[in-house]
Amino acid sequence: MIEKLEGYISDLNKFDSHDLNEIESLKIKFLGRKGLINELFSDFKNVPAEQKKEFGQKINELKILAQNKYDVLKSNIKKSSNTISEDFTKPGFPVSSGSLHPITLIKNRIIDIFSKVGFELSEGPEIEDDWHNFTALNLPQHHPARDMQDTFFIQQNPDILLRTHTSSVQVRYLEDNPPPLKIISPGRVYRNEAISSRSHCIFHQIEGIYVDENVSFADLKQMILYFTKSMFGKSKLRFRPSFFPFTEPSAEVDIYWGLETETDYRITKGTGWLEIMGCGMVDPNVLENCNIDSEKYTGYAFGLGLERIAMLIYQIPDIRLFFENDIRFLNQFK
Ligand code: DAH
Repeated sequence: MIEKLEGYISDLNKFDSHDLNEIESLKIKFLGRKGLINELFSDFKNVPAEQKKEFGQKINELKILAQNKYDVLKSNIKKSSNTISEDFTKPGFPVSSGSLHPITLIKNRIIDIFSKVGFELSEGPEIEDDWHNFTALNLPQHHPARDMQDTFFIQQNPDILLRTHTSSVQVRYLEDNPPPLKIISPGRVYRNEAISSRSHCIFHQIEGIYVDENVSFADLKQMILYFTKSMFGKSKLRFRPSFFPFTEPSAEVDIYWGLETETDYRITKGTGWLEIMGCGMVDPNVLENCNIDSEKYTGYAFGLGLERIAMLIYQIPDIRLFFENDIRFLNQFK
C-alpha cells in the first residue's frame, strides 16, 4: 500500500503540463470525489495497524502535493495567457481624456445658432490700433465714451492697445468686404478692471453685424428673438434704450429669466429680468469710415459677453473660475 502511495507521489512530482484540460483532469484524478485520494482514505481501514501512522502521513502529503501542483500549473497558464493578450501600445499610466472649456462650449453653441441663419465667422487681432478699436467706431480722440472702457495701452506707442471689445472686427471686415455682409466675431478682449467675482480684465465677447439694403430695427429684434429662443428657450424680451457710439439708436436687451428658484432671485436681483447684450443700428458714421455708402446701406450690430452667458447657463457664481484652470472645475464640463 505504502509503495503504491509513494508511486503516486513521485508521479505527481514529475507531472508537468501547460494544457488546461490535462491539469483539470489531474485534479479530478487525485482530488475529485471519486479520486485516488478519497479511495486511499477508504482503504485506510485495511491498512495494518503498525503502518497506519505512516500511511496517514503519506496520504496527507499526497493531498497537499496534488493541490499545490494544480494551483501552480493553473497560475502558470494564467500568467502566460495574460502576457500574450497584453497590449504593449497602451500607456503605462491611465491617461484621462480632457474636455472643452465652458467658454468654448458656449462659444460653439452661439456660432452654431448664428451660422444656421447665414452668419459667417470672422476674427481679428487682439492687439489692435486706435482706429479699429475706437476712432472708426465713432469714438474720436478725447470722446468721453472712451472712458467707458478702461484700456490697456502699449506704453511706448499709445496708438497700439489690447482691444477692449470685438467691435473692432466689424471695422476690419467692413473695410475689406462690400455689403451685403453678415458676420459674427468671437474673441478675447481686455480691460483694465479690478478683478472680482463679476469682472475680470480678460474676457470673451461675440460681436455680430449685418449690413445690407433696407436692414431695419425690426430685423434686429427678430434675430435676437431667434437667438434667445435657441440659446435659452426663452422669448420674453425687453429692449431698453441705451447709448453706444457705434450704433444709433442703441439698446440693451433683457430677457425675462423668471423667478422660480432662489438662484433666479439672486442673479436677477429680484426682478426676474437679466441683461444679456448690447445692440443697435450701425451708426452711418461707422459705415462711412469704412467707405460704405450710408445712403444706400443700413445695418444692425450686437455684442454679448460669453462669460455672462456661461455663468447663466451653468449657474457659475464667480467669473474667476473660468481663468483658474482648476481641474475640478473643468472636469464638470465633460
Ligand atoms: N462693444 C460693446 C461693449 O463692449 C458691445 C456692443 C454693444 C456691441 C452694442 C455692439 C453693439 O455691436 O451694437 O460693451
